[in-house]
Amino acid sequence: MNGKAYIDCMGGYGVSLVGHCHPKIVKAVKEQCERLIACHGSLYNDKRAELLEKLVKIAPRGLEKIFLSNSGAEAVECAIKAAIKYTGKREIISMVRGFHGKTLGALSATWNPKYREPFKQILSPNFKFVPFGRLDRVEEAITEDTAAVIVEPIQGEGGIHVAPNGFLEGLRKLCDEHGIVLIFDEVQTGFGRTGRMWASEHWNIKPDIMCVAKAMGGGVPIGATIGRNDVMGSLKVGEHTSTFGGNPLACAAACATIDVILEENLVDRARVLGERFKKILDGLVGEFRILREARGLGLMLGLEARVDIYNILMRALKMGVILLYCGRNVIRFLPPLVISMEQLEKVAEVLRVAISEEESLLKETGI
Ligand SMILES: Cc1ncc(COP(=O)(O)O)c(C=O)c1O
Repeated sequence: MNGKAYIDCMGGYGVSLVGHCHPKIVKAVKEQCERLIACHGSLYNDKRAELLEKLVKIAPRGLEKIFLSNSGAEAVECAIKAAIKYTGKREIISMVRGFHGKTLGALSATWNPKYREPFKQILSPNFKFVPFGRLDRVEEAITEDTAAVIVEPIQGEGGIHVAPNGFLEGLRKLCDEHGIVLIFDEVQTGFGRTGRMWASEHWNIKPDIMCVAKAMGGGVPIGATIGRNDVMGSLKVGEHTSTFGGNPLACAAACATIDVILEENLVDRARVLGERFKKILDGLVGEFRILREARGLGLMLGLEARVDIYNILMRALKMGVILLYCGRNVIRFLPPLVISMEQLEKVAEVLRVAISEEESLLKETGI
């Protein structure tokens, strides 16, 4: 903007995993534009078929029936409907601090009262919230009527909280015992962001349905609900459709995005750079009293402060670093995975200045 260069650690809320305007994605979209832009899902399309094949190849084994849509919230809506239809039950267990989108079904599964309150009279009463990480509370919440548990393996909007070891394993066990559909929302964590293709791989746990979107189209809107054949197959023809879902243009972008992620080894890159950057953030936590903790996996990281982070973000922006927040006191990092270590070091330098200024200011004012 105005000739000023920025380092983007926000990545469009996690969309720009392969950077902005990656040449392979631009080329794929241009070429597809000249062939066919729209093609309804009731007709065959070669690009859609190609994408479905690519998705099945990289998805956790056994998840092979896919519904294509246009966003994360839509991917979640489909998962909810499939779980309800498959089990014939109606209750869904969701997590405190969980975020799944803002359409009515997804919002019903979203915890933040700020988003729910204005619409509470029309949200579904069939959603229960339990503390993230508390298996005992999940068990207590299960009834004869529980259809699904929905969870982000690493909570994003909720403040970058990594599932404690044993939690996803325990959820898998509980869901198997009670015939409950386990839904992993990987809208923010998917496609390599956390240093594995899917965050669930950190614990080696497979869901029955996985929701993805954000990074999937390299910037072009697309989402997918990827599930077990029997679970997804319970939705009969016409019971869940989308006019634009799976359009050839978005599919071409998604095919190119998956190719780039694999060819450029971005999953490993996220892991290696993420580990190094996390160490730098841990160092900052040791340096400044106003910082509490650094957490996350791969290049999905959070830095929690004991104070409001607004001034820190604004100062960093002036110094050319775009950062993101979750709530008032967590700085969130969702940079493109193509970011360099030099750029991450520059981000750390800027952070050190911005945080140091804030700490001095608070000391002066005696807070
Ligand atoms: C985990 C998760 N699920 C769902 C969504 C909703 O996605 P969208 O904004 O594309 O509807 C988001 C968006 O931030 C998300 O982080």
